[in-house]
Amino acid sequence: MYDKQYAACLHGIDGTIVDVEVDISNGLPYFQIVGLPDSSVKESTERVRSALRNSGAVFPLERITVNLAPADLRKEGATFDLAIAVGVLCASGQLRLPGMDRCLIIGELSLDGRLRPVRGVLAMTDAARRLGIGQVLLPLENVGEAQLIEGMRVAGIGSIGELLQRQEHLFVNIPPSSGLRDAPYLSERDEAIGEDFVDVCGQFQAKRALTIAAAGFHNLIFIGPPGSGKTMLIRRLPSILPALTDEESLEVTKIYSAAGQAPVQNRLIRQRPFRSPHHTVSLGGLVGAGSYPKPGEVSLAHRGVLFLDELPEFPRGALEALRQPIEDRRVTIVRAKAVFTFPTHFLLAATMNPCPCGIFGFATRASSCICSPVKVHQYRSRVSGPLLDRIDMHVEVPRIEYDSLRTGGSASSGELRASVQRALARQAKRYANAPLRFNGELTGRLLREHCRLLPDGQKLLADSFEALGLSVRAHDRILKLARTIADLEDSDTIGTPHLAEALQYRCLDRKL
Ligand SMILES: Nc1ncnc2c1ncn2[C@@H]1O[C@H](COP(=O)(O)OP(=O)(O)OP(=O)(O)O)[C@@H](O)[C@H]1O
Ligand SMILES: [Mg+2]
Repeated sequence: MYDKQYAACLHGIDGTIVDVEVDISNGLPYFQIVGLPDSSVKESTERVRSALRNSGAVFPLERITVNLAPADLRKEGATFDLAIAVGVLCASGQLRLPGMDRCLIIGELSLDGRLRPVRGVLAMTDAARRLGIGQVLLPLENVGEAQLIEGMRVAGIGSIGELLQRQEHLFVNIPPSSGLRDAPYLSERDEAIGEDFVDVCGQFQAKRALTIAAAGFHNLIFIGPPGSGKTMLIRRLPSILPALTDEESLEVTKIYSAAGQAPVQNRLIRQRPFRSPHHTVSLGGLVGAGSYPKPGEVSLAHRGVLFLDELPEFPRGALEALRQPIEDRRVTIVRAKAVFTFPTHFLLAATMNPCPCGIFGFATRASSCICSPVKVHQYRSRVSGPLLDRIDMHVEVPRIEYDSLRTGGSASSGELRASVQRALARQAKRYANAPLRFNGELTGRLLREHCRLLPDGQKLLADSFEALGLSVRAHDRILKLARTIADLEDSDTIGTPHLAEALQYRCLDRKL
């Protein structure tokens, strides 16, 4: 007696469809899974056996072999439980599922036969759709998530008992899902930090820098004395970031689904993520950990903001590990069993004090820096040159005058967001036929094509290149930044003032 079902497993954040073949033949009672299963998959035999018995089904006392194909792919996790149970029930004639020969079956079983939700449903359902599999059977809690993929017919069940009861009626009256159009999503109220730039007094230059960063997706670092409002300013960055496109929403939701982050289960993420890991974060927590790695902070911040407050306090290893994700916009984790790649296209926003006491370069009549030059140098060198080179804007945030504190807030998030939107509309027009959305993503040929300078600008950039000892990477980043500044000013050409403003954001190149 033979039966075949489709299940799936996660590989990084992508789903892979796995054939589950069940063969029951005469012989001494035996239940084995073959096809490169991990120990977590082998344990499935115990769960399936108990779940069937406790649901009123008969567990066949015969020779049962389960094969998971393709055999060269190492399988991990408990997502195969349900498919194996269905296979055993069908092969032993206890379950009839007409019209379900192309159905993805995923779910973890508990010993009493109830189903537990699994992570990564979105990616697995997407993999099924690509192979032309149009039906999904999974735990009730995961139904909403699978419905985010358009055109799938999704049936949810609570237990094996319910499966046996409904049998051939499982997919009756279940229409294809409408995908993202009607998807419930995390509303602004649920997720927004509820903070507005109007709360920040003064700090025009810092707000300007954040507007530029949001408009072109550029990295930035704030440097300034304690209490000047650096953390406060960056926490308000999400309030001016443009919304995610449908495609980006799906990408981000897939990552959170693979990471098993509960609050987003069944819902689409519509807002850009904002991740602010503490400086005690481990290397694994930052880039992805485990022998089957889950996405780390750099991937959870994909298409959003990675906020590193107090940058010099982060361990050196963690900061150096950021170099590849920033440059390549993905991180590759090599394990003995396989290679995993996660997307990491984030906007890096960081803060730092200029020295251990925090006043160097920002002395006032009442206070001056007490750190020795060696100490200042040591402190600053905790943030390496190559990392700073990857940060487009270095912005000084001095303490504000008492007067601006008294006069209160200036531009609100609404006003800043309007300029970001205008700049974004210009970029959308320019990149209508290119695979990018923000100036910050320009590279190579496209960069040279869209960031042409006038002769005056060329001379200014040539002079600064030598005077500041800029790297080629910094040179490219300045050009992209100047492009965004020109877009914010509604200008088709990059003028000298735009370039000059972009150049002034490289202050740490001069000081370190
Ligand atoms: N420009 C400002 N307008 C209004 N309030 C401000 C401003 N700057 C600072 N504050 C107030 O001071 C508090 C401390 O600011 P914040 O934590 O952002 O400082 P910081 O620059 O990050 O300091 P540190 O370097 O010590 O981390 C804020 O929570 C806010 O209440
Ligand atoms: Mg701070």
